[in-house]
Amino acid sequence: MEELKKIVDNTFEREILEGLTSYPKYISSKFFYDKKGDELFQKIMELPEYYLTRLEHQILKDNKVEIVKSFDPSREGFDLIELGAGDGKKTRILLKELVDKQYDFTYKPIDISQNAIDGLVSKLNEEYPTMDIEGERGEYFEVLQRLNTLSNRKKIIMVLGSNIGNLLHPKAITFLKQLREAMHDQDFVFIGMDQKKNPQKILDAYNDESKVTAAFNKNVLSRINSELGGNFDLDKFKHWETYDPETGTAKSYLVSLEQQEVDIKSLSLNITFDAWETIHTEISQKYDEKTVRWMSEQSGLRILKSYSDIENQYKNYIFSK
Ligand code: AVI
Repeated sequence: MEELKKIVDNTFEREILEGLTSYPKYISSKFFYDKKGDELFQKIMELPEYYLTRLEHQILKDNKVEIVKSFDPSREGFDLIELGAGDGKKTRILLKELVDKQYDFTYKPIDISQNAIDGLVSKLNEEYPTMDIEGERGEYFEVLQRLNTLSNRKKIIMVLGSNIGNLLHPKAITFLKQLREAMHDQDFVFIGMDQKKNPQKILDAYNDESKVTAAFNKNVLSRINSELGGNFDLDKFKHWETYDPETGTAKSYLVSLEQQEVDIKSLSLNITFDAWETIHTEISQKYDEKTVRWMSEQSGLRILKSYSDIENQYKNYIFSK
């Protein structure tokens, strides 16, 4: 465990050093999720502007019987591996259906945040004392390397919440290709993908009036302050969101409000920011049918079925090999 923590911390140090000494500067959104970041993300999911969680929740609720049936039509038993499980709120709908219908399954939630995994597993243990649960901390690409050691029976791999949208297309395709390699013929991938829609609605979702998303974005600077001995002044940065309706890419930035210097002790680093210089922190990709079809072709996966809300604003896809 100590060893794992060390590797994780080193990744944080290494990638922060790399991103803040590049031009233009960047920080990966995977570093958003410490205890505070998890809490802020939970608040985001409750925001009136953040439609994604509610839409996916409704889609799963409306289609739970059919979805669960297609996971394991012959009732042979399976492992339900969820990458980026978070608080598992939406998954609960499917878990309840699986338990109610007495499916033979083990739920294996995986998340980059140990805090999220601990919370989820202890809550589920209370709610469903007989459910087999094996939670683990891990990053998408690292987990993919060892997917086959995680499970030796039929696998359903879930990536909900449009988490795949936090990867640029080439990375998302590499991710899907690696998933495909780890899959057997009877395995499925179940993925939630936010769709292109009125650009204003998308922009508002990442630029909420109560400024929770701004705090979420800036929290990564607090993490650098507390974990790496940084002295970022959060008030000297502005959260900025853009959405390109052509590519479907929403991007988050932190913009330096003035010329300033920041020290990060554990990296022995002094960074200068020009006024209005940016740190790119996150992408949240939105999809359309053509793009999803292209991604599945590129990665060698087949779209078996998709579920959506009436306005096609959000879709959950089942892919097979
Ligand atoms: C986790 N992920 C899919 C969220 C998203 O929509 O990109 C994270 C988020 N960032 C800002 N608000 C929510």
